[in-house]
Amino acid sequence: MIRRTLGKVFDRVADAYDAARPGYPDGLFAALAELAETSLNGALVVDVGAGTGISTRALQARGARVVAVDPGAEMLSRLVSRGAGAAVRADGNQLPLHDGVADLVCYAQSWHWLDPVVSVNEARRVLRRTGMIAAWWNTHDTARADWLAGYEAELAELAPEYWGPAHPQWRVPSIAAVLDVEERWVHWTRLVTVDDFLLDLRSHSYMAALDPGQADELVGRLRGRLDGDAQEGVLTVPMRVYLAVGR
Ligand SMILES: C[S@@+](CC[C@H](N)C(=O)[O-])C[C@H]1O[C@@H](n2cnc3c(N)ncnc32)[C@H](O)[C@@H]1O
Repeated sequence: MIRRTLGKVFDRVADAYDAARPGYPDGLFAALAELAETSLNGALVVDVGAGTGISTRALQARGARVVAVDPGAEMLSRLVSRGAGAAVRADGNQLPLHDGVADLVCYAQSWHWLDPVVSVNEARRVLRRTGMIAAWWNTHDTARADWLAGYEAELAELAPEYWGPAHPQWRVPSIAAVLDVEERWVHWTRLVTVDDFLLDLRSHSYMAALDPGQADELVGRLRGRLDGDAQEGVLTVPMRVYLAVGR
């Protein structure tokens, strides 16, 4: 049975997530294929924490057959309404799949929401003998733009549950502590309107923790500084993806 609270955080911000979260660059999937020593084309991939389907659609676009798994009813409904194929509402710590069926189990921005040990054992159970586990996270690359570093620093002051590059203890999730992985950083650049950048902000779990009035006030304050950083309403945002691949 799915615990009632599981997936609820993102269900509150599913529309913003669906509309404005960034996708992933081609270079990520090239690095994934290289480190996993396999082609995504034709592979059976379990996309754990698939959410609204950003990762699912990107994997499908590269020829993968994807089973999308997520406990969030609202998140998953966005994925289904876009016709993403096989979707199962379930906890990724207890995958509703037989042993030894998948070529790849992946966690796109999601592994840190699961039990670190149980999730990896569960992934190993459903993988074929040659199967691989991959996890990745998109983050703002604050080292490449002062305006972005300033924005993250102000956000860290305004949002009590903020977790990101401006937090003193921030680091990539510790999958390398439980799985022997090869790691890559993939850099890319996102062009995004200020409106969509702020909608993306609203889709983060630390924003979902605020009451609506607090969230509106925070977004209003940050809009003031971002308007000055944009050119004709568009921000050029340096991004980087941390990728970890192991067995
Ligand atoms: C940040 S979103 C990532 C969505 C998508 N993979 C992407 O690339 O945008 C994290 C997702 O993990 C899901 N999640 C949280 N706990 C989970 C669990 N125990 N098992 C599977 N998914 C979980 C949430 O419901 C949410 O949709």
